[in-house]
Amino acid sequence: PRKVTTLSIASKKRRGHKITMVTAYDYPSAVHVDRAGIDVVLVGDSCAMVELGFETTQPITLDQMIHHCQAVKRGAPNRPLLVGDMPFGSYEFEDKDVALRNAYRMVKEGGMDAVKFELTSSISWLKGGSESRAQTIKHVVDGGVAVLGHIGLTPQAISVIGGFRAQGRTAVRARALLDDAIRLQDAGAFAVVLECIPANVAAAITEVLEIPTIGIGAGGDTSGQVLVFHDLLGMLSHPHHEEFVPKFCKQYARVGMEITNGLAQFKKEVEDGAFPGEEYSPYVMNTDEEKIFD
Ligand code: KIV
Ligand code: NA
Repeated sequence: PRKVTTLSIASKKRRGHKITMVTAYDYPSAVHVDRAGIDVVLVGDSCAMVELGFETTQPITLDQMIHHCQAVKRGAPNRPLLVGDMPFGSYEFEDKDVALRNAYRMVKEGGMDAVKFELTSSISWLKGGSESRAQTIKHVVDGGVAVLGHIGLTPQAISVIGGFRAQGRTAVRARALLDDAIRLQDAGAFAVVLECIPANVAAAITEVLEIPTIGIGAGGDTSGQVLVFHDLLGMLSHPHHEEFVPKFCKQYARVGMEITNGLAQFKKEVEDGAFPGEEYSPYVMNTDEEKIFD
């Protein structure tokens, strides 16, 4: 299968074919996402929450992101487009070379094809922040690294926006999102993630933009869809405990239940002596040799 590129993603939008993106954080998740033929693998900073157990995406560092990117690259080295999230604190500085240098690390050390930047509209209202962020993105694209933009709910800005909640729900805020999407396109982003915004707002942005939109909690009229691996597969589903699943996420499997059942079965069989038994005790001594025990 041919390598997915920023160009092939763009041509999917033009031909009306939906783009698929799923997160991966390590070798096995990357292998599975690749085997399923998903177009884009995102090493998301959601890693901080679903893999590392933090409450937000803020704590994960660039070095930690690169460590996860390297494992994903080994799991899906050839076909899908690999995008790595620039973590909180790695690209916001006035000095745009910091962002460019860190983007180069994601490519050279992490093996990523592209990086993703969040851009928060509510911050831009305070001090023209989204224009400055767009300039950073332009600087990174000029430097030769493809950029995926991310607007709407931008979890890294949790301390500014106050909580994980839908964005763009008034006409003024919807308009600000559209302006930011256009800014991202003008800055050279190859696509834009739209997270947790009304479906009609996402549809309007998708229609205005030339570059593809990839939605999560943004309705069906985007150029593609992205979900978090653990959410869509039910990695923490459990027979007796409630699992948190975002409202917009369909669960396509209950992998957590399988894991819990497998582990419980192992424990039971070890304790009652059923495992390993003869079937899983394959090694016998070479009978030609002299006895070592009398
Ligand atoms: O980190 C992440 O998983 C993301 C996606 C939800 C787009 O940014
Ligand atoms: Na993210």
